[in-house]
Amino acid sequence: MPIIHSASIRRLCTAGLAALLLGLLPGRAALAETDPMANARIVGEKRCGECHDTEKSLFGHTQHARVFRENPRNDTEKAVCEACHGPGSLHAADTKDKNKIIGFSKEWGTPIERQNGQCLGCHSGGQRMHWPGSIHATNKLACSD
Ligand code: HEC
Ligand code: HEC
Ligand code: HEC
Repeated sequence: MPIIHSASIRRLCTAGLAALLLGLLPGRAALAETDPMANARIVGEKRCGECHDTEKSLFGHTQHARVFRENPRNDTEKAVCEACHGPGSLHAADTKDKNKIIGFSKEWGTPIERQNGQCLGCHSGGQRMHWPGSIHATNKLACSD
């Protein structure tokens, strides 16, 4: 499998990893106090797809989709979209507040450490070495651009 290592991705992934290793990311307790998503629940892929049809179908072509939909190994993977974007009940009820869903685009403004934390939650082993392509089978890059 070809491994595309764009400099920017590597830089951001490295930064996220370094932050993790140095313990610079806020702990669970610290996050809970300020986290606007602390009380959000998982709503499921079907609900997300009602408004995000394009992303849903693009996502269908990815390896993540195959694993999460067909052969989930835990509750996080079972959450599909929300495995990466976080629990979406508050976002579904208020789509304007950008603090209520984890986005991976610059415009959305979710802090980079938080974005990378979502990925590194699962990719903390050897898988971290591979960051090719896009999560939604577009040519946008993640981990995160
Ligand atoms: C009621 C419709 C609705 C539902 C349900 C919904 N969203 Fe959204 N979502 C929106 C709208 C509207 C925006 C804002 C789009 C914009 O301004 O670019 C948005 C924005 C987002 C973004 C940020 C996009 C960016 O620019 O980076 C993400 C990520 C996202 N939604 C994921 C989800 C996920 C995951 C779910 C299911 C848990 C979900 N949404 C459910 C309507 C919805
Ligand atoms: C493996 C992690 C992951 C999963 C699972 C995932 N996404 Fe995303 N999503 C991303 C990343 C990374 C981006 C930004 C780069 C990209 O588009 O690939 C993104 C971008 C988005 C955007 C913004 C698109 C835009 O054009 O700005 C929306 C909306 C979204 N995702 C919704 C969803 C929905 C709905 C699902 C489930 C069907 C889903 N995501 C599943 C990681 C994920
Ligand atoms: C809930 C766990 C989980 C989360 C969260 C997650 N991944 Fe994955 N990822 C997986 C699994 C499982 C695979 C399939 C690996 C395998 O088959 O060995 C995978 C595969 C990949 C691959 C290789 C396949 C491909 O589609 O190119 C990349 C790159 C990747 N993930 C990047 C990311 C990024 C970037 C994020 C954050 C936006 C992310 N992952 C979030 C579990 C996760």
